[in-house]
This record gives sequence, structure tokens and C-alpha cells, in this order.
Amino acid sequence: MSGETKKRVLSGIQPSGNLTIGNYLGALQQWVAEQDTFECYFCIVDLHALTVPQDPAALRAKTREVAAIYLAAGIDPEKSAVFVQSHVSAHTELSWILTCLTPIGWLYRMTQFKDKSSKQQQESIGAGLLNYPILMAADILLYQASAVPVGDDQRQHLEFTRDIAQRFNHTYGETFTLPEAMIPREGARIMGLDNPLAKMSKSEASEYHAVYLLDPPDIARKKIMRSQTDSGRDVRFSSDPERAGVNNLLTIYQALTGEPKEAIEARFEGKGYGDLKKAVAEQVNDRLSPLQARYNRLMHENGYLDEILAQGAERARAVADKTLAEVRDRVGFVAPYR
Ligand code: TRP
Repeated sequence: MSGETKKRVLSGIQPSGNLTIGNYLGALQQWVAEQDTFECYFCIVDLHALTVPQDPAALRAKTREVAAIYLAAGIDPEKSAVFVQSHVSAHTELSWILTCLTPIGWLYRMTQFKDKSSKQQQESIGAGLLNYPILMAADILLYQASAVPVGDDQRQHLEFTRDIAQRFNHTYGETFTLPEAMIPREGARIMGLDNPLAKMSKSEASEYHAVYLLDPPDIARKKIMRSQTDSGRDVRFSSDPERAGVNNLLTIYQALTGEPKEAIEARFEGKGYGDLKKAVAEQVNDRLSPLQARYNRLMHENGYLDEILAQGAERARAVADKTLAEVRDRVGFVAPYR
């Protein structure tokens, strides 16, 4: 298949908090697998991170850290464009144009906005938090991406993206490809180790909530060994909320090994939760140690990461600027004379 005919994929993660095994199993692992089938664009969405207050030095460090984790996880910069969102100014520009086409009712209805804003005083909620989905739509639409590999919690954002793309296409003529969410069958939703009823988050303060991708093996093991389970003994997949902890550990095991559920249940037949936890810890560490070794190597190679990000931004701009030029023309902007 030639480069021209491959369908496009775009996805991104915010450079805030610490990337977890939830990010890995829900997104990164799938990105790596899509690289040969699609023309892939993977960005670090620093503009999105600004929707809540950030320390500038920490944001800068996190942006590089997340980029290095993409590469360490197996994103190949020869195949995929890896770039920082703010390096491609088309994102903010398209975002404004789409903002003017977005009914605010659509924004107030988004569950993520409702969740995040309910935790804050009305006066201190940044307008960026409300407009967040528009920027995400711009990220996707600029690349005419047909598939967006994300975790289960991003479904509504993808629906929003399709809605705004359709609205633009109706208003100004066919311009944007309508993207589909691509949600992994296994591991799309990894739950908190300390609270298996809430999704694992990279910005949760409590110590035993999540295994971070850069956790040393003994810490990762300790977090898994202490994860919350029920008082039962059968190691079985279950949709019973009471048994969500064990189900979550099994889901992690399944997403890492790719084994069918029945085979996993058979493996733990007659064994207890302690055995399951040990086995999960081992699988997690087997996956994390080569990732961490690659991470450390490339963070120590002077200038390597910056060069990759510069090349990624160039490739991204070539596509994004082309779409933006068409959009500018469609909405009636005078083309710059020179
Ligand atoms: N909203 C996404 C998240 O929190 C991050 C994101 C921003 C994204 N822009 C994107 C994901 C474009 C996919 C495509 O996970």
C-alpha cells in the first residue's frame, strides 16, 4: 500500500500528571499496533493541558517526558509523526473558526465539562475548559483522520467532533472527513487500584491509585499487591461492582497477555487473589522494564528527542496547513497577497 492511500489516524495525550498503565493499555499499546496500517499522527496536547493551571517549568518537562514515553512504548518516528500540539499553530487557528460555529449548549452538555467544572467555583472555571472539545475536534479534523484510537472515556468527544465536522460541511461544503473512535476491546477502561469503581487517572494524588509507566518495579509490585479486592476467593471475570477489583486485575492481565478470558480463568483455577496479584505484577513489570530502559536511553541522548519533535512538527504542518488553507478559503477569508 502506498503512503498516499493509507487512512489517517490521530491521537494525543495531555502532558499532565504521570502516564499510567491505564494510558498504556487504553491508548499507547493500540497506537503502536496501528502504525503499519495507518498514516499516524501522535501529539502531546500541551494546549489542552493549559485548560487547568500549570506550572510552566513542569509543563515543559512533562511535554518532553510524554514524548519520550511515546517513543519508548514503541511509537516509531520513522513511521509515525510525533509532535507537540503547540508547534503546529493551525490547531489554535482552526479551533477559533470552529468555536464560532459551535452552539454553547453543545459544550455545556459535555460530561467531562460537567465533571470538571462541578469541582470548582463558577468564577474560577477557565473558558478553556468549556472550549476543550473544540480544540480536540480541530486536532482531529486538521489531519482528516478517519480513526482516533482513544480510551472509552473519549467517546463523547468523538461524537462532538463528528457533529461539528458535519455542521461545517453543511454550512461551507464538504471539507472534513468524519472520524470514528477506535476503542480497544480489551483494556479500554482500566480502573483505579485503590478504587475499582473509578477510572484510573494520571492526576490522582493518592499513592496506591495507579501504576505509573515510570514506576520502579518494586513500587509497581507494591501498588498491585495492595490493590483493593473483595472478600471472595474465586478468580473470575465479573461485572458485579462488588468484585470490580478482581475484574480490573484480570482485565490488566488480559490486556497485557492477549489471552482469552477462559484461558486466564483456567490458569487461576483453585488459586487465590494473592496469586493473581503476583502474576499481574510480573506481567506489568515485564512490560515496563524494557520501556523504561528505552526511555532512559533516549532521554540521555542529547538533542535526539528535540530532533524527532522538530521532524514530527514539520510532517504535521504539511498536512494541517493544507486543510487550514482550504478552511480559510471556505469561510471567506481573503487569501494573503504574499
Ligand atoms: N481529550 C483527550 C484525553 O483527555 C486528549 C486529546 C486531545 C485527544 N486532543 C486529542 C485525543 C485528539 C485524541 C485526539 O484523553
